Amino acid sequence: MKEFRIAVYPGDGIGVEVTEHTVRLLQALQECCGDFTLHLETFPWGGDYYIEHGRTAPEDYLEILKPFDAIFLGAIGDPARIPDHITLAPLIGIRQSFDQYACVRPARLFEGVSTPLAGRGAGDIDMVVIRENSEGEYIDNGGRFKKGKADEFAVQTALHTRKGIERILHFGFEQARKRKNHLTLITKSNALKYSYVLWDEIFEEMRPNYSDVETQKFHIDAAVMNFVRWPDRFDVVVGSNLFGDILTDLSGCLVGGLGLAPSANINPERDFPSMFEPVHGSAPDIAGKGIANPTAAFLSAAMMLEWLELNDAADRIRRSIESTLAAGETTADLGGTLNSTDYTERVLSRLEASK
Ligand code: NAD
Ligand code: IPM
Ligand code: MN
Repeated sequence: MKEFRIAVYPGDGIGVEVTEHTVRLLQALQECCGDFTLHLETFPWGGDYYIEHGRTAPEDYLEILKPFDAIFLGAIGDPARIPDHITLAPLIGIRQSFDQYACVRPARLFEGVSTPLAGRGAGDIDMVVIRENSEGEYIDNGGRFKKGKADEFAVQTALHTRKGIERILHFGFEQARKRKNHLTLITKSNALKYSYVLWDEIFEEMRPNYSDVETQKFHIDAAVMNFVRWPDRFDVVVGSNLFGDILTDLSGCLVGGLGLAPSANINPERDFPSMFEPVHGSAPDIAGKGIANPTAAFLSAAMMLEWLELNDAADRIRRSIESTLAAGETTADLGGTLNSTDYTERVLSRLEASK
């Protein structure tokens, strides 16, 4: 029997709701079909914790999380009570401190789900965005000056290192080899002449080592246009931290919405736990209504199981979701009538048969 310790960080809003359903899914999976045990430990960090303790997570949250085999996160953000840059700090802290430099965000159009794009059907969109997750625009480097004065200014400097670019491109090329041997690089090297020119140069240096992988390049502005008009021309897409963030709300939207978009923050060397979370946030507009689509969280849990080499369990989740969606049994964001609990029941009922 394989055993794993999983840290569960539900967060805020629908993060708590989709995590609750994911925990049910993982428990059902172990009962019906698993030769594994997941020891789940939940950490109630987020907005309520902040009100009580003046911080959204304890000071030693990284030491607490480090011994786990993986982290499952719902979503963080309580914008009505706490500024986002305070609440979200632990999320970025985990990604960077645990060197989860490869953020993997697949987007596939499932049968039974409609896309906002005309004339596209199941299978026409199947891409994965590999987002550089450890540096770029997200590092804590900058300052505010002359606060409150008329000439106040802020400086926020992005960092792009050779090591960071090489390792994410290597990761992307390897992913491409496991998929359709196609990789798109996203930059903005026509305007940002230091950082993204370095990306371009390293890409050209590395390409000959992956001559079996076909490549294309777009600047981020053209890329968002091409995601919409030619989504079928993308397989693996590699971009910096900020570009990857922006692209994956779009890729999620193209395949039916953020309720379906999973993500994995991977430390490929396995020196630290990796973290699995939906792409979406805490969705205050629907929080508390019991209608959030938990599929993105379920698919993130499947990515976690795959990372733990529990491939059969991961496949069962994916297949159960696919047949539930194909049967038109969906939540309101996909045009259905099911609430989160009833939808989860439909997925659970298929686990055993989804070999
Ligand atoms: P959001 O992703 O929470 O919501 C965007 C839209 O998508 C909303 O209309 C929402 O109702 C819908 N949506 C998202 N997930 C859904 C689901 N599972 N089912 C059905 N509909 C869903 O983005 P936002 O509103 O810009 O941000 C809300 C808060 O979440 C902010 O505090 C933001 O900073 C934070 N945030 C956190 C994360 C994270 O924890 N990883 C990610 C993104 C945003
Ligand atoms: C995401 C989110 C986060 C990000 C925010 C909430 C800090 O948008 O995971 O996509 O920008 O990485
Ligand atoms: Mn985002």
